[in-house]
This record gives sequence, structure tokens and C-alpha cells, in this order.
Amino acid sequence: DMETMRPAAVCVLLLLSTVLGSFPQAQHVTWKSTNFKTVLSWEPKPSADYSYTVEFSVVGRDRQRNHHCVRSSATVCDLSSSLTDLNANYTADILSEPPLGVTSDLIEFPYTTSPRFCPYKDTDIGRPDFKLEVSEDKKKTTLYVTDPLTALFKDGRQLSIRDVFSEQLHYRVTYRRNKSTGKKSADFKTNIIEMSGLDRGESYCFNVQAFIPSRSFKKQLGELSHTQCSEVEDPSISDVYSVGVIAVAIFLILLLIAIIIAVTVICCRCRRNARTTGKEGLPLRDV
Ligand SMILES: *[C@@H]1O[C@H](CO)[C@@H](O)[C@H](O)[C@H]1NC(C)=O
Ligand SMILES: *[C@@H]1O[C@H](CO)[C@@H](O)[C@H](O)[C@H]1NC(C)=O
Repeated sequence: DMETMRPAAVCVLLLLSTVLGSFPQAQHVTWKSTNFKTVLSWEPKPSADYSYTVEFSVVGRDRQRNHHCVRSSATVCDLSSSLTDLNANYTADILSEPPLGVTSDLIEFPYTTSPRFCPYKDTDIGRPDFKLEVSEDKKKTTLYVTDPLTALFKDGRQLSIRDVFSEQLHYRVTYRRNKSTGKKSADFKTNIIEMSGLDRGESYCFNVQAFIPSRSFKKQLGELSHTQCSEVEDPSISDVYSVGVIAVAIFLILLLIAIIIAVTVICCRCRRNARTTGKEGLPLRDV
């Protein structure tokens, strides 16, 4: 009778709504983060029948949403400005929901939880830039490192990785002679790095990368900078060059002396000519 059939009907209805209303679960949820630009991504691209909503939270605390990542058909979500506690462990759930504006009777949507992510410990550090300077006497080689900028802002100012990591941030310099492949490295706490122990007059090639020793081993080193080599003039060329300069200088001095002599001689001749052409009437002073 009707009374016994009701639970079965409810069951069938529930099953139907689950089958029809259920959306594919997000897969391969990963964090990609460099210099605190943090983007969550997943698969697959949704059909027109459903969308994704991201809910993130510090582990064990209330869930939050970023309005860019609600009922969206995108499979990425930029959470850079949302993960405000840099030291916290975050997780995010990717919910598969009906498209924007479509309601559903379902209370629970399928979801996938991301791995844990801690911005301070896990964000990758991008390649730094640096300027290479060799002193005039070729004795001192100095590297001026520019801290990479982060995606973080404070009081309208864009923060650098130095602003975030302060004294935790070191730089590792890897260097080798231009002609050799044998590499050495040294770590420094400052952005102005004076290299010591280099052979004078040799060309060296340098790479710089951020180094954060307080991090887990896998995350300590940042991306390598471009390579820059110090330039050394070929000594034989510089010798030739300076000999040329000296030769020109001597030539100019000789020319100058020659001109002075020529002018003096001409002047004397002029005066003598003046004296011999009837100006003898001028009174000569008695001495
Ligand atoms: C984050 O998680 C790690 C291990 O998973 C733990 O050691 C650490 O204390 C956690 N950090 C915070 C701020 O809860
Ligand atoms: C050093 O390296 C630079 C750039 O790689 C190159 O242009 C230069 O010729 C090299 N100099 C020597 C002395 O090997």
C-alpha cells in the first residue's frame, strides 16, 4: 500500500536527483605560487551545465570565498590577495555547482579539497636581477642584487621579498671562471655583495638566486638569475692601445715645439727686418 511505498519513492527521487544533478568533481587541484602570486588550478573545464566555486580557509577555521571564484567556469582562482595570513596553512575546496543563476535542490555539492599551502613556506621565489661592477683597478668585483617584487601590497606599496623575509633572506652567488666549468658558490645576507678571492684580470661569470635557509630543503633556493660575466680587456690590446696614445702624445708635443720654434724664428726675422728698414731714427735709451 501507499504507506510502505513512500520511503521507496523518496529513495528513488533522491537517487534521481543525485544522478541528474551531480556534477563532475574537480581533479588535479594544485597550488602554483611564485613571489606570493598564488593561483589554484584544477581540471576539467566545466560544461555549460555546471560551474566551480572555491572556498578556502585556514585549516580548522571558517571558510571564505573570493568573489572572482564563485560559480565560475574558469579552472583557476587567483588567491594572492586572499591568503592574508602568510604563515597560516590554507586548504581550499573546489565545489562543483550549478551555473550562475540556476538553482538546485541539492544541499551538498561534490567537492575536492586541495593540498595544504602555506604562503610563507611554499611560494617559489623568482629570479633576482643584479648589476655587476668591476672597480677600475680590477681588484674589486661587486654585485648589486635587486629583490624580486611580490604580488603583495601594503599601504599601496608593492612589497619585495626582502620586505617579507627580512633577515631570513640570503642570496647565493654561483660563479666560475669564464673559461672553466668548475663552479663555486657563496651565500650572503646583503644585496650589495663584494666578491673576494677572485683572480685579478680574469673574467668570471655569475648567477644569483634567493636562498632562505629557514625553509624546508626543497624550498630553500629560488630561481637562478640570468648569467652575467665580467669583462676583461685583452692585455695585449690595452698595451697596444696605450703605446698608441703615448706615440700620439709625443708627436703632438714635438709638433707644438716645432710650431713655437717656427713662430720665434719668424718673429725674430720680422724684427730684424723692421730694424734694417730705416727705423734707426728711433732714439735708443742710454743704459
Ligand atoms: C602548518 O602545518 C605544519 C605541518 O603540516 C605545522 O608544522 C605548522 O605548525 C602549521 N602552521 C600553523 C601556523 O599552524
Ligand atoms: C666571457 O664571457 C662573455 C659572455 O659569455 C663572452 O662574451 C666573453 O668573450 C668571455 N671572455 C673570455 C675572456 O672568455
